[in-house]
Amino acid sequence: MSYLIGVDIGTSGTKAVAFDLEGKAVADALIEYPLYQPKNGWAEQDPEDWWNATVDAIALLTGKIGAKPEEILGVGLSGQMHGLVMLDGNDRVLRRSIIWCDQRTASEAEIITDLVGRDKLIEITANPALTGFTAAKIMWVKRNEPEIFDRCRKIMLPKDYIRYRMTGEFATEVSDASGMQLMDVPGRKWSDLVCDRLGIDKTCLGRVYESCEVTGTVLPEVAEKTGMSVRTVVVGGAGDQAASAIGNGIVREGIVSATIGTSGVVFAHTDRPKIDPLGRVHTLCHAVPGAWHIMGVTQAAGLSFQWIRDNFFDDVKKAAGLMGKNPNKVMDEICSRSPAGANSLIYLPYLMGERTPHLDPNARGVFFGLSAMHDRSDIVRAVMEGVTFSLLDCMNIIRELGTSPDFVYASGGGGNSMLWRQMMADAFGVRVAQNSSREGGALGVAILAGVGAGVYESVSGAAESMVKETSSVSPDENNTEKYRNVYALYGKLYSALKDSFRELSEI
Ligand code: XUL
Repeated sequence: MSYLIGVDIGTSGTKAVAFDLEGKAVADALIEYPLYQPKNGWAEQDPEDWWNATVDAIALLTGKIGAKPEEILGVGLSGQMHGLVMLDGNDRVLRRSIIWCDQRTASEAEIITDLVGRDKLIEITANPALTGFTAAKIMWVKRNEPEIFDRCRKIMLPKDYIRYRMTGEFATEVSDASGMQLMDVPGRKWSDLVCDRLGIDKTCLGRVYESCEVTGTVLPEVAEKTGMSVRTVVVGGAGDQAASAIGNGIVREGIVSATIGTSGVVFAHTDRPKIDPLGRVHTLCHAVPGAWHIMGVTQAAGLSFQWIRDNFFDDVKKAAGLMGKNPNKVMDEICSRSPAGANSLIYLPYLMGERTPHLDPNARGVFFGLSAMHDRSDIVRAVMEGVTFSLLDCMNIIRELGTSPDFVYASGGGGNSMLWRQMMADAFGVRVAQNSSREGGALGVAILAGVGAGVYESVSGAAESMVKETSSVSPDENNTEKYRNVYALYGKLYSALKDSFRELSEI
């Protein structure tokens, strides 16, 4: 028997999944680790935690399937994007990683715009300066921790740090690297101009591969610890969104997915780089060679749901645990007691600032319209609807850029909720389907590993043959009408509060 392994270095933990060559998941293992939030809007993790979790998860996996090392043909790495890992000349990690959802870099984004020029920056990197992207984080370290910046010799993304430890190869690949804002995205290579203007030495950046290319093989000591072989190939892999898109079959122009993970993403494949002149959605290289994608990102999608569940529904979690039920299913039951529109309660999901469409690190969460008549079910419903409206913001910009899908694939933890899929169908006004893939990101990078190992001919072909639609829901016209009105008001609330959010950040 032969296997491919997909590893997803996520925000809450690292998940490793083993697949057979037909793309069927045969075993998985998940190891969690902490997120550090030393200040409001800051978010950091320890790269050593990612590494330990990766080694332990793969070792658990190979143990579970009882595979011989040489049966593991390839590994694909996926992971949280935009994070900054800095190493010194002796390959020691210089500080905790500043990760994707950290919002400390508003001033640095302005500095980047001034140094490169807004139009030039969008022309080269396909995006305006964004607080969440890695370049702004590097500039923050340069300005606030100059002694660390001076000692830095290697700059990497989270999954590329794992590659470095796993194979000894200092490398990255196009999909994740284009989220650093140091790349010429149409040209799929580092940009000399951007690196020069920001004073970032290009030798600190790894070699850029296409996502399905082989970047190295597993080091002997890692092979021993994990049960893999020194002949197991490690391919470029992909940032978590591009990886999920491959695993969800988003490999042709016009196919769109909506993913509710910690963040929420609406993702569309494009055959050429399509750029939003207002920079509200990101344009990045896709993990399909020669293709790009556009994606709208809402910072706190599943995070909003988790936040409300973990802080205010502890009793539900405990009761669900005692009954052996999934707490999210119980939350769905509670939510379904409130009607569409949550009895006129509106939630803005800006717990970690917002990217699409506002690009505002100061934005914060809001419940609007609270009344004594509201109960817990309205609160849960308002949260799920607020996240859905924020995904609709993303969808509308993708439509403006010329992609109007007939249906959308839902994925991520939130996509497993039938109620949330119905809400999306009602709000988007199109059919929302689920597909056979439950392991989106891990399957996506396992497919890339299969191409690198010579098992499959092409990324698109392999993805299309493995992913099949399994169920779908159609919009309920009454709810669509209701949501049209609620969404119009939802949109006005941010505009009304924009200045107050800034004032709040200065208190
Ligand atoms: C995408 C993004 C998130 C993170 C964490 O731009 O920031 O998807 O990669 O999931």
